[in-house]
Amino acid sequence: MAVLLNPLDPEFQQYPYDKYTELRRDAPIYRHPAGFIGVSRYRDVVQVLTTPELFSSKAMGGMDMPAGTTDLNPSHGSLIGKDPPVHTKMRNVVNRGFTPRRIGKLEPRIHEVIDELFAEFAGTGQCELMSALASPMPVTMIAELLGLDTAMRDDFKRWAHSLMIGSTQMGDADQRLKSMENVREFSRFMRTVTEERRKSPGNDLISLLIHAEGEEGILTPEEVVGFASLLLFAGSETTTNLIGNAVLALLDHPEVLERVRRDPSLIPNVVEETLRYDSPIQLLMRLVVEDTELGGVELKTNSMVLTLLGSANRDEAQFEDPDRFDIDRNTQGHLGLGFGNHFCLGSALARLQGKLALEAILERMPNFELATSEPIARHGSLLVRGPAALPLRFDA
Ligand code: HEM
Repeated sequence: MAVLLNPLDPEFQQYPYDKYTELRRDAPIYRHPAGFIGVSRYRDVVQVLTTPELFSSKAMGGMDMPAGTTDLNPSHGSLIGKDPPVHTKMRNVVNRGFTPRRIGKLEPRIHEVIDELFAEFAGTGQCELMSALASPMPVTMIAELLGLDTAMRDDFKRWAHSLMIGSTQMGDADQRLKSMENVREFSRFMRTVTEERRKSPGNDLISLLIHAEGEEGILTPEEVVGFASLLLFAGSETTTNLIGNAVLALLDHPEVLERVRRDPSLIPNVVEETLRYDSPIQLLMRLVVEDTELGGVELKTNSMVLTLLGSANRDEAQFEDPDRFDIDRNTQGHLGLGFGNHFCLGSALARLQGKLALEAILERMPNFELATSEPIARHGSLLVRGPAALPLRFDA
């Protein structure tokens, strides 16, 4: 039988949605010859994500890095790879850093960062949107949350990208080697910062976590470093690709673009529909804890399950006319930010950044359009979906 799901196939990475439709129809619980299981229907994905006692998040702890040190895999052992009850305790601690009040307070600073970035290119009438805005903006905000010097923005971008390469099997051998060096460098840097904050705490997230470490004995020093690196990856490349995917969807749907231009209050709908229609995170991994059954298929202990969020979000049993980019639809229950106990910690920040970035693009890049006739290539990643580059021109 033909292999229906190959997340490493470059063609699949460019456009996975036809394959997803086939999977949902013909093999909703698909056993790949290599042993992993692809889950493509909405109902089954939700079932996996809401049953941590059978489907462990251990699989998200960075099992795909080469065996070795925590230097190479700093987010190993962090929140995203834990199950209840440990996850519940940790999450309660880090939730404190993401209260609506804390996130709301970031809004003026996000505006400032967007202004600074626009100043670099607004007068030229052209930009490569990913490197000019979509990538540096969220990276800067994470650095600020962690209380780090934003002058190091370029280092953070390099580190964030290397974490993505490391955890999503992107790139060739040379790139991966380079990315490992970068990740090591990031680990060392974070360790030094954590030590400094221990001596002189501030009002930042790392200090808050160190405080929790003393207070409740939940977070070890390694875990504080792990959490910082999780944030750098989970909070930057994801938002970057949300912005890229939203702009691409608008360019592909000129009538929607026109409506949103006339009525910017529709921008939150664009953000939400993009999370559903072209999800920046396409899949999550879970490990089967004990022999079980899903959708009538037997699953063996330790099998790797890939929940295909990008497919579940296009499931016709859940969303009417799912392949249509429709900013008027009810997107409630989409899985673009996950579901269940690991639901995205940074969802409010992601939504706010997405909204503010799109507002700025629509307002300050009049009549923007693609500056290339070539098709826009997507990242070669099995996990993250977004344009590798997005050259635009506009009226300056
Ligand atoms: C559009 C942008 C974003 C997308 C699409 C996204 C997506 C996701 C998804 C799908 C999960 C679930 C992981 C799982 O169940 O295994 C998740 C978890 C998480 N996200 Fe986001 N995310 C985004 C932005 C952010 C931001 C801005 C931050 C932080 C500043 C963040 C921090 C996290 C963390 C820490 C977790 C783990 C939560 C836990 O394990 O309890 N994310 N995100």
